[in-house]
Amino acid sequence: MGRAPALFPSTMRMSGQLLLQASLTAWAAASAATTSGANSFATSVYTAAGRFPTTLFTKYYNNPTQTASQVQPVIEDPVETGLVYPLSLTDPLTVPKNDTTDPHPLPPTASASLLLEQAFNQIIAISTNANFNSSCAKCQAGLEIAKFLALAAPAQGPVLAVRLCEHFNFSSTCGNQYSGLALGSVITQVVANANVGGYDGQLLCNNFIDSLCPLPPATPLNLTSWFAKPKPNPLPAPKTPSGERLKVLHFSDVHVDPRYSTGAEANCTTGPCCRYDNFNAASPGVIMAPAPRFGAYPCDTPLALTVSALEAIPALTGTEKTGFDFSIYTGDLVSHDPDNQLSRDYVTYTETLLYDLFKKTLGSGPLYATLGNHDSYNQAQDAHHALGGGLATQFQWNYDHLASLWEHEGWLSSSAVALARAHYSAYMVQRHDGFRVISLNTDLWYKTNYFNYINLDTPDNSGMLRFLTDELQDAEDAGDRVWIIGHVLSGWDGSNPLVNPTDLFYQIVDRYSPHVIANIFFGHTHEDQLSIFYANNGTTMNSSTAQTVGWIMPSITPNTNLNAGFRMYEVDSATFEILDAYTWHSDVNSFAALDGQVEVGPTWEFEYSTRDTYGPSIAGGWGANDPLNATFWHLVTEAMEANSSLVTTFNTLQGKSSVRTPACTGNCVPAKICYIRSGSAAIAKQNCIPGFASVQ
Ligand SMILES: *[C@@H]1O[C@H](CO)[C@@H](O)[C@H](O)[C@H]1NC(C)=O
Ligand SMILES: *[C@@H]1O[C@H](CO)[C@@H](O)[C@H](O)[C@H]1NC(C)=O
Ligand SMILES: *[C@@H]1O[C@H](CO)[C@@H](O)[C@H](O)[C@H]1NC(C)=O
Ligand SMILES: *[C@@H]1O[C@H](CO)[C@@H](O)[C@H](O)[C@H]1NC(C)=O
Ligand SMILES: *[C@@H]1O[C@H](CO)[C@@H](O)[C@H](O)[C@H]1NC(C)=O
Ligand SMILES: *[C@@H]1O[C@H](CO)[C@@H](O)[C@H](O)[C@H]1NC(C)=O
Ligand SMILES: *[C@@H]1O[C@H](CO)[C@@H](O)[C@H](O)[C@H]1NC(C)=O
Ligand SMILES: *[C@@H]1O[C@H](CO)[C@@H](O)[C@H](O)[C@H]1NC(C)=O
Ligand SMILES: *[C@@H]1O[C@H](CO)[C@@H](O)[C@H](O)[C@H]1NC(C)=O
Repeated sequence: MGRAPALFPSTMRMSGQLLLQASLTAWAAASAATTSGANSFATSVYTAAGRFPTTLFTKYYNNPTQTASQVQPVIEDPVETGLVYPLSLTDPLTVPKNDTTDPHPLPPTASASLLLEQAFNQIIAISTNANFNSSCAKCQAGLEIAKFLALAAPAQGPVLAVRLCEHFNFSSTCGNQYSGLALGSVITQVVANANVGGYDGQLLCNNFIDSLCPLPPATPLNLTSWFAKPKPNPLPAPKTPSGERLKVLHFSDVHVDPRYSTGAEANCTTGPCCRYDNFNAASPGVIMAPAPRFGAYPCDTPLALTVSALEAIPALTGTEKTGFDFSIYTGDLVSHDPDNQLSRDYVTYTETLLYDLFKKTLGSGPLYATLGNHDSYNQAQDAHHALGGGLATQFQWNYDHLASLWEHEGWLSSSAVALARAHYSAYMVQRHDGFRVISLNTDLWYKTNYFNYINLDTPDNSGMLRFLTDELQDAEDAGDRVWIIGHVLSGWDGSNPLVNPTDLFYQIVDRYSPHVIANIFFGHTHEDQLSIFYANNGTTMNSSTAQTVGWIMPSITPNTNLNAGFRMYEVDSATFEILDAYTWHSDVNSFAALDGQVEVGPTWEFEYSTRDTYGPSIAGGWGANDPLNATFWHLVTEAMEANSSLVTTFNTLQGKSSVRTPACTGNCVPAKICYIRSGSAAIAKQNCIPGFASVQ
């Protein structure tokens, strides 16, 4: 094989560029030759020089004749005068990892107003972007943007909330609802702290934004680690009834309206009715239904109706001389105002007014009260201690005020007052007879408390259910009976409470029932309702698994379409079981006729006895001294299944026999029985037909 002529003698001086072009040409030619085989270069080969052509460059960083490493020529930039590229740039032993001399610039820091504009525009863009193909994905992505705004420019959070509300037509009063002076600052805190890309965001989108995300299932619980001790087996022997009956008053949801305007529009369309500034859009300037002095179906309670109830209570219950052994009040003192008409002072004014009135009118026995969702500012909001810093204590003024009032009225011991201050107004009070009342702040499981959506995948982010469990364990250890009082019910149709906290509450009730917890009491719905709690998470619901009852107290307020009512229980002084329950009511439909005279006010009359109404329906009967306990109520629901006329009775009483209560027929019948058997939101949502919970 002959030696091919050198295409370029090694001595030939060429620029680097030329050299490269020449080499490429040779390579192309060589490869063409190998493929075609018919080319005249086909047999040409070139063998390059073994030494580096040192004359190619004028200077080198290393010795260009050595072969141990690659040659490092010194390169001067011909257009950047004086720039000589250093060896460190190409030295194989010291490859630089980060160029710190001239990184690309970052965009300028955006002003708060630009951040707002961009957050708003990006959320709108996501809402119309077809690549986010589910409304849940859009909602959560939007929340993630809002979260960054809330962290970077918190003052813009409420502004964004108002703008989004306006853009998406969520309300006609966006400014009044979501400004920093209403709920906007709360929402900003929550979005800044919540896991909006995870469970928290799904629930925020499920509950507040048109059900854009599906409701995720309950988070599994580890009950072994939750409870200090397993449930005793067998249970301790039940206490022997004393045969002595205590008189206990239960009333709820006064919602006194100190701004009630007699003669204002009672059939309004623009806000709370029976107020000077609200009217009916169908008849501007003309009042259709003037608000009677004693109250109206769409309105909260005027002082005149409140006082008439408090006068009627001792007279009708026969406690004028004796007072009650004790009373329970299951929350909501304050009227249903829009957020921007409320204030701290309005809340503390109402608390002061009503607790003082209760003390003056109800006699000597103590009153055990619980905080309602309207007894806060903003209403329904209560922040968890885990938020830390100033955010953790932003509602402490209310807990302190309530605890101080309860102490001032002589209702709570100093130890109970200390608990209320430390636990969001929740407390345990132990009476001289050992009986205990545990009062909860149920805003901490209420769906409308935004703060609950921070780490909602855990069932007790406030610590309130830990407090409850520890108190119940103490009571079990001491062999004491307990009543639990709270405002927002834990179950019924599941539309008010949150799934995770009430799923845990249900397990706590199971663990300490029936030997510790004798009864549970709620309010909130304004209607006469009931919850039965069963063993084993309600997997079998029958008369032997029914363990405890939650009595849901109808309201004093007629709001909305309801009569006013209150109740007295007769309670065994040793077992604290309820032996009889008597309910009174006043027909709000009759109030308009009372105007124009001052001789008579509202008539309050006996509505029903629970035992007399439902007892006869139980197959085999119910003994005269057998308590109205969970077994009794479960048997009543079986009778309801057998004969729906009993559901009709229940439905009438649910609205305190209001003329406005609609009939319950068709699916309403099984739905109502199902709600009665649902003590947690998870059970109600799993088992019941929705849509028949209220008679309003
Ligand atoms: C390059 O810079 C980044 C940012 O400072 C740093 O995390 C990384 O460790 C650096 N790499 C080296 C090799 O120094
Ligand atoms: C969204 O698109 C993804 C990917 O194409 C698909 O897997 C998913 O089912 C879609 N979701 C909806 C709600 O259409
Ligand atoms: C909101 O309502 C206005 C007026 O009715 C309408 O023009 C607009 O398209 C609505 N916006 C959205 C996002 O639905
Ligand atoms: C539940 O908690 C107990 C006690 O802390 C622990 O031993 C157990 O592993 C936990 N179970 C689960 C399923 O996490
Ligand atoms: C209330 O007002 C509506 C119109 O907004 C009217 O249809 C209705 O009949 C009125 N009801 C009463 C009781 O006046
Ligand atoms: C209730 O159900 C449990 C569990 O299935 C069963 O053991 C018990 O006998 C039932 N009781 C009644 C009264 O049906
Ligand atoms: C309810 O009372 C009846 C009659 O005294 C009793 O047999 C039953 O065990 C009680 N149920 C509960 C859950 O305590
Ligand atoms: C259902 O109860 C009502 C009221 O007690 C009674 O009049 C009616 O006969 C009962 N119906 C049946 C099918 O038992
Ligand atoms: C209780 O039952 C409900 C409804 O089936 C379910 O969603 C929930 O996870 C159950 N809770 C426990 C602790 O098993």
